[in-house]
Amino acid sequence: MELQSCVKIINEWDIVAVRQLGRNVAKELGFGTVDQARITTAISELARNIFLYAGQGEVCIVKEQQNGKNGLKIIAKDNGPGIADIRRVMEDGYTTSGGLGAGLPGVKRLMDEFDIQSNLNEGTEIIAVKWLR
Ligand SMILES: Nc1ncnc2c1ncn2[C@@H]1O[C@H](COP(=O)(O)OP(=O)(O)OP(=O)(O)O)[C@@H](O)[C@H]1O
Ligand SMILES: [Mg+2]
Repeated sequence: MELQSCVKIINEWDIVAVRQLGRNVAKELGFGTVDQARITTAISELARNIFLYAGQGEVCIVKEQQNGKNGLKIIAKDNGPGIADIRRVMEDGYTTSGGLGAGLPGVKRLMDEFDIQSNLNEGTEIIAVKWLR
């Protein structure tokens, strides 16, 4: 398996596909079933946000190595409308769609590292990493 594989998110089936890809890579890396569930939930939330708010984009799953540590990195990027106020979207319960507003804060809690870059009318890139321990 390559170090990085990406799935274009265009329709809802792509969300299922990237979730499955993430589970397979997490298993290969040796994550236990609880961490596999955390990782696949994070991937679904990010892919679903792309589908809902940006229309389309891409999610990449990367096998990450740093200082002898192994991890799984999720890169979710789109060229959608972007996010005006990143602080607000990271608050529990903030939603523009009548959702639970639990997606992004949830992803941050489920993963070890979380970084969000977004510019209005340019798009959004979110990177999240889970380290194997
Ligand atoms: N890729 C994105 N592009 C533009 N806006 C986004 C993107 N992802 C999230 N947002 C904005 O951030 C808000 C919060 O996202 P979050 O996933 O936390 O909650 P939600 O999608 O509204 O509800 P839930 O995920 O709980 O169903 C969204 O309502 C949306 O306005
Ligand atoms: Mg969401």
